[in-house]
Amino acid sequence: MNRHPCDFLVIGSGLAGLTCAMALARHGRVLVASKVDALECNSFYAQGGIACVIDPGDTVEAHMQDTLDTGCGLGDPETVQRIVRGGYERIAELEQLGLEFERRKRKGKENEYDLGQEGGHSHRRILHAGDITGQAMMQVLLAQARAHPNIRILENLMAVDLVTTGWIRHPGPNRCVGAYFLDRHSEEIFPIHAACTVLATGGLGKVYPYTSNPDIATGDGVAMAWRAGLPIRNMEFVQFHPTCLYHPHAKSFLISEAVRGEGAELKDIRGQAFMQEFDDRGSLATRDVTARAIDFVMKKHGDPFVYLDITHRSEPFLRERFPNLYAACLRYGINMATDPIPVVPAAHYSCGGVVAGVDGATALPGLYACGEVASTGLHGANRLASNSLLEALVCGHETALGIARTWKEYREIVPIPGWKCGEAVSSDEAVVVEHNWNEVRTAMWDYVGIVRTDRRLARARARIRNLRQEIKQYYGDYLVTSDLLELRNIADVAELIIRSAEQRKESRGLHFMADHPETAPDAADTVIHDRPGGPLT
Ligand code: FAD
Ligand code: SIN
Repeated sequence: MNRHPCDFLVIGSGLAGLTCAMALARHGRVLVASKVDALECNSFYAQGGIACVIDPGDTVEAHMQDTLDTGCGLGDPETVQRIVRGGYERIAELEQLGLEFERRKRKGKENEYDLGQEGGHSHRRILHAGDITGQAMMQVLLAQARAHPNIRILENLMAVDLVTTGWIRHPGPNRCVGAYFLDRHSEEIFPIHAACTVLATGGLGKVYPYTSNPDIATGDGVAMAWRAGLPIRNMEFVQFHPTCLYHPHAKSFLISEAVRGEGAELKDIRGQAFMQEFDDRGSLATRDVTARAIDFVMKKHGDPFVYLDITHRSEPFLRERFPNLYAACLRYGINMATDPIPVVPAAHYSCGGVVAGVDGATALPGLYACGEVASTGLHGANRLASNSLLEALVCGHETALGIARTWKEYREIVPIPGWKCGEAVSSDEAVVVEHNWNEVRTAMWDYVGIVRTDRRLARARARIRNLRQEIKQYYGDYLVTSDLLELRNIADVAELIIRSAEQRKESRGLHFMADHPETAPDAADTVIHDRPGGPLT
């Protein structure tokens, strides 16, 4: 039974998913599924802003060059050009819907955009809504999507696996016809059929114990796509944000790079500024360089954190420019105007993912991917700050246009069999799931973190292989829960990161190998294209 009939199934209600849904709604009925509440996603927590060429002194070519330089030879120039060029129109559309970016009166000029600065950008080009840009964007978009007669948003509905015609033995060429979902309240699993399915499931920060990401970021889209046989690219490039708050009571709290853009300096705990030793750009170096420098300084002195110091700025300036950060730091007993902020690097963003075009097309007909889950070629080996909201907006929209061009080919309703749970019984061993969660994440932090070695990667591979075997058995024996599904996903994603990292015998961008510190003369992507199961043996 198709209990939620729709033409288009969008898995994920972040910026990419909602942007895609809004444009798709012109063509048919859209169902947006969200694992938890619709606002609980990486997009909501974005602080710094969205990169866009606005200033008359700035150019699209300069933004493209900064993006490609940051990507260390692996960015695709055509993709970069399409996404950088596409931003302006999407931003104007959001403004028409009611979004207000910060504007400021400057030297007699009325109401100019207040453009922020972040690492790796050669110009000020970050549009922001205070320091809660993602929240402002999401609230505007979600209100529009909820009011749209062609869009239904279902919350607490977690995609378990994609359904392909090959898998259900339906005749004809293999294509995606929907997905199985777990209703987190009733714990029922059922299929949703769609002509086209869009993966917009976001990132995977939870594969690591220290992350800026909220709990939803368990790499579900990448894991589901891999299990469905899609190629997965450049998974070794996990971006560690240099400055997450170090405080016993702060969970995943980011201190925006925009703070460094306004002159904050990184200092060791003795008060010594250190970034100039690592890069001429000092504290405004790109994230790969900065996170590695912090890691080096912390390990060299055995320090648990470093400081981000912006005390040279006045309290009124900081309160106005960073109202949310200022208030949050105060709640933790830190006054940004007088106290340096203790920070550590934490897993933040996945540059790799499901191979997809700017129009979301993947290797599987009927399946599209956009936003952080996709690997479009924009980021290469490292992401330029504030380029991912841009990618989510532009590619979310382009994906809808791509689907509109072709979806009628896939209109035939293919019956999907109901979910079979066989002999599975309810588990009374939630403690095992919890334990395995911790084991996967600890192994990833200890062995597949900011600095990697051949030995540590081999060790991680052995650990994750054992854990995946145990999880597979658990998955077969017990009725599934969202915790177990997420555990399976983080373990699958961990395997992909490790195998990609082992393939790259060089240091490039975010992937630093102490055993191979040099960068190879030719830049090449790592692509994993098999199904889990094979790699276990
Ligand atoms: P998300 O916004 O994460 O949305 C993913 C959606 O998928 C969620 O609705 C989730 O519930 C759903 N989902 C996941 N798995 C399933 C499943 N199995 N079933 C059903 N639904 C599922 N980037 C910038 O460019 N500028 C910034 O200033 C910036 N600041 C950031 C600050 C923080 C703290 C963080 C964490 C990230 C920041 N980023 C920033 C990165 C950026 O926010 C994300 O890369 C981007 O928002 C991703 O958008 P998305 O739509 O792809 O994913
Ligand atoms: C930040 O505000 O530092 C995050 C920006 C980003 O991830 O692009």
